Amino acid sequence: MSFNPFNETPENSEKLFMDWKTIYPESYSKLGADPFTKTRVILMNGTEYEAVWFSHQFFRHCKDNDLRRQLEFVRKSEQQQQKRIACLKPKDESVLETTIAYEQLAVELTAILAQREPDKYVKAALDFALLEDFDHLYRYADLLDLEHGIKSDMLVGGYTEITPARPTIAHHRHPYDDVRRPVNFKKCAPITKLDVAIITAAEQQTMNYYMNQCAFYESDLGRRLYQEIAMVEEQHVTQYGSLMDVNEGWLECWLNHEYTECYLYYSCWKDETDKNVKKIWEQCLRQEIVHLHIAAEALKKYGKKEWQQVIPAGDFPELLHFAPQEGYIRKVIAETVENTALREDYVDVHRLGADADFFKYQKAVNSNDKLVASHQVIRAHIDNMGQDYRAEHAENPIPSLRCRTEDNIKLGRR
Ligand SMILES: [Fe+2]
Ligand SMILES: [Fe+2]
Ligand SMILES: [Fe+2]
Ligand SMILES: [Fe+2]
Repeated sequence: MSFNPFNETPENSEKLFMDWKTIYPESYSKLGADPFTKTRVILMNGTEYEAVWFSHQFFRHCKDNDLRRQLEFVRKSEQQQQKRIACLKPKDESVLETTIAYEQLAVELTAILAQREPDKYVKAALDFALLEDFDHLYRYADLLDLEHGIKSDMLVGGYTEITPARPTIAHHRHPYDDVRRPVNFKKCAPITKLDVAIITAAEQQTMNYYMNQCAFYESDLGRRLYQEIAMVEEQHVTQYGSLMDVNEGWLECWLNHEYTECYLYYSCWKDETDKNVKKIWEQCLRQEIVHLHIAAEALKKYGKKEWQQVIPAGDFPELLHFAPQEGYIRKVIAETVENTALREDYVDVHRLGADADFFKYQKAVNSNDKLVASHQVIRAHIDNMGQDYRAEHAENPIPSLRCRTEDNIKLGRR
């Protein structure tokens, strides 16, 4: 039976705020937790960050202090949720180990959304970034093995293969090629709106994480790798953010945010295998139902609209369910590894004109390809250990990516 959060009776909003004991949860076990528990924690941490940051932007564009107080009321609750979820990560999980979970989330989430996405243009965007996060996973996994002797295959639980795809050096594109066409949220399927919101928040969280961690990582190679991949995540955030409907008002956006949070916590709660974490998802869902009803009230009072005018059917579509997506990922690699972006669309790099902006930007940032960290890390691994680190379940779908003693910097660049 489908769940509709608008039909739920919200709890008393004064009971929303948690005490310090509740805010500081018992963390999951680094070795015992299912990798998908870790990915759900990262996803919800990023979703809460988006809720908070959206609320601040709305607040700064709002003149009415009664409405601003309502925003701060809910935002404080979002902040508590974010703090609680952030500390589900255990103390003994390192920055780089957590990074492996970030890229695993990006890969698995993107592949799941791409396969269920009815809008072909949105699906193409998902497929496009999928290969890049998949390649990032391989680069970070090599750094983790090189510097700490830790095999990422164990961290990802064998759910996600670790092998190169479109090489990271080819991800660096001109800013003009990052911007996509907005989707019409009034006409699209309800699941499209959710997919765009979910993936934008997830990529934004990744961008923020790398942006903040790059200065704290312990080696120069690692710091430079975080810098470089953070710049690719910036492109991903821009790509997905540009799909959002530009005609939605602030109050409508607020309602959509709360609805997306309800949908995600409900999905996480249904799937969660860690008992303690499952309880937290359930509590968060109840808090989100309060937020949703406050946002619906505000829409009515200040926007003179009913929630049904923004979300015509409140019933959740198909839930988000994490499971390995290996076959689909291999298919996308085989079919689109040499794609790049050209303004709002995707093309095979061989179809670009010689004067394309892609080549100008590539020349500017990769002027010395020996200094591209994502490839230096593979060369260093080969030099130190005789071959790269990878964890494949079959040979790489692309013949030119099969050699384990030579790093490919040409594919996807021409
Ligand atoms: Fe929230
Ligand atoms: Fe990535
Ligand atoms: Fe990404
Ligand atoms: Fe919320």
